[in-house]
Amino acid sequence: MTRTDDDDWDVTESVGATALGVAMARAAETSSATPLFVDQYAQWFIDAAIERGWRSPFDAQALAEADPEVAERIRERAQSIFGYAAVRTKHLDDFFLEAGAAGITQVVILAAGLDARAWRLPWTSDTVVFELDQPRVLDFKAETLRAHGAEPSARHVAVAVDLRQDWPTALQQNGFDPSRPTSWLAEGLLPYLPAAAQDLLFDRIQALSAADSRIAVEAFSPTFFDPEHQRRRREDMAKLRAAAGAAEDATPDVTALFYNEPRADVADWLRSHGWDVSTETTATLMARHKPHLSRDLQNPDSIFVEGRRLTGP
Ligand SMILES: C[S@@+](CC[C@H](N)C(=O)[O-])C[C@H]1O[C@@H](n2cnc3c(N)ncnc32)[C@H](O)[C@@H]1O
Repeated sequence: MTRTDDDDWDVTESVGATALGVAMARAAETSSATPLFVDQYAQWFIDAAIERGWRSPFDAQALAEADPEVAERIRERAQSIFGYAAVRTKHLDDFFLEAGAAGITQVVILAAGLDARAWRLPWTSDTVVFELDQPRVLDFKAETLRAHGAEPSARHVAVAVDLRQDWPTALQQNGFDPSRPTSWLAEGLLPYLPAAAQDLLFDRIQALSAADSRIAVEAFSPTFFDPEHQRRRREDMAKLRAAAGAAEDATPDVTALFYNEPRADVADWLRSHGWDVSTETTATLMARHKPHLSRDLQNPDSIFVEGRRLTGP
């Protein structure tokens, strides 16, 4: 699974399949006893992918075939990863609800994947939600939602584009208005971009953000991108995979899709470009929303960065 500058993917492969991973977490949270949010769309995506031959990394059959001790470790791992993704979803739902309450009606979700916020959040009727992702990921999403007759709760505009390419032009050709304040989201995206592409992404957001725009970013500590740290994570995963006896393609190694390069600190970058910035750690959010789940090594060292732009470009 070697990355290249112009690689592309379907939802069941490479970086695309990570969107299914997040959908699995949202489906699991939705069917839990006390969910932090309800995303009934998530299970539709999983079912549609399975119909296409995709096999879940936490496939029940693979777990049943695995050594019971290993199966238990995999379940613990799933609980930890899913718990993190659920808390992240809840936190970022709240970001959009607050931005909407403050009157921001233009929303851009970068690398939207199978995010169903345009369908499930209570947007005001004049809100437009732009979703950017690779063409085949957005096609799969649209087809699945169409098959279920789902209607968005805002005006929804899919912008099929690679975020390493000229997405600002594509966004504006689809009706984005840079003179209006925007709420931006980059969730589950940055590790999949080379450091230079991350820099360019923020330069472009800056050029398109009117005063009073807001941004939420799932950013990562410098240790996260340390090759040694990622090597240890990979080794750990490989041991688990080998022990489970599961097929390699059923338990993809997501770290192989990351660009482990030193990169700009998102909070510092935004501060130095005129944004009022606040941050929250994973530990704080987990303690707030899922205190029973310990923060272990399987949770990325993420930092949730929120910015409010004081003056326009
Ligand atoms: C981990 S998923 C996160 C999806 C969504 N933000 C969520 O949290 O549910 C990563 C997503 O980033 C998208 N992505 C990664 N690199 C991209 C690129 N260069 N251009 C467009 N989309 C990209 C993938 O297609 C995938 O949908």
